[in-house]
Amino acid sequence: MTDPRSQRLAQRHALLTGAAGGIGLAVAEAYLEHGARCSVADLAAQPTEALLALSERHPGRLHYVQADLSRIEDIAHMVSSARECFGDIEVLFNNAAVFDLAPLLESDERMYQRLFDVNVKGMFFTMQAVLRQMVAAGVRGSVVNLASQAGRRGEALVSHYCASKAAVISYTQSAALAMAPHGIRVNAIAPGVVDTPMWGQVDALFARYEGLQPGEKKAAVGRAVPLGRMGRPEDMAGAAVFLASEEAAYITAQTLNVDGGNVMS
Ligand SMILES: NC(=O)c1ccc[n+]([C@@H]2O[C@H](COP(=O)([O-])OP(=O)(O)OC[C@H]3O[C@@H](n4cnc5c(N)ncnc54)[C@H](O)[C@@H]3O)[C@@H](O)[C@H]2O)c1
Repeated sequence: MTDPRSQRLAQRHALLTGAAGGIGLAVAEAYLEHGARCSVADLAAQPTEALLALSERHPGRLHYVQADLSRIEDIAHMVSSARECFGDIEVLFNNAAVFDLAPLLESDERMYQRLFDVNVKGMFFTMQAVLRQMVAAGVRGSVVNLASQAGRRGEALVSHYCASKAAVISYTQSAALAMAPHGIRVNAIAPGVVDTPMWGQVDALFARYEGLQPGEKKAAVGRAVPLGRMGRPEDMAGAAVFLASEEAAYITAQTLNVDGGNVMS
């Protein structure tokens, strides 16, 4: 007999943003393994090789849609394309984001705009579009937003990204309260440092501004984690499945640290 815990999301339709690689891809794989049908959105016109391989392992259960989530019209298209393929969306893994850093006095409007367009505007209006659909369809769904340990406290070089992730935590709380009467739960995950394509860029930027060798920052942040290493994308999957599933039926408005012990709250 199949262990019911291995099919926590059986037949659920999950929409995952920014899931062509990194954390989103690992969570898409976990959702599929738990029985979900997944609509996956990212910037590229075509799905990556990794997504194609995932689709081959789970035939007929992965739908890819191109979307630039800083554009409201792309968000609307993503949601309708997902619904056309697999019906009402029951789980949203709201994950797409970009990173950048600069000394506070040097950061410019362009950097601010790019980070806030994707990490805050894109994140909020994606959530709003999916919540509207859940409410209209009477779906008692679950939203999981991607925050960060960077949203818990400021960093001298990382002001805009930190602020964008603090906004994710705040919107999670407001949306959870607004949606509680509809039986829809809204939570967030706050990763610490996770070895994804994003960290290649993070490491290079820290190297430039802190005078470090390539790879030095990445090694240092890994050593500083209480559990002794950087996270892997798969390390986010357990929390992502749990929060999306009925096992978390009494959990809402929370931001769960999945960071090897970096943040205590
Ligand atoms: N990697 C870490 O250490 C870390 C730590 C804390 C939080 N996070 C958060 O976790 C989430 C996933 O991060 P990751 O490390 O896997 O990053 P990543 O860069 O590997 O993946 C992010 C994905 O989002 C997509 N994306 C970017 N802009 C987009 C847009 N406008 N429209 C659609 N898709 C877009 C990218 O193409 C990419 O596939 C992000 O929200 C990130 O801020 C990551």
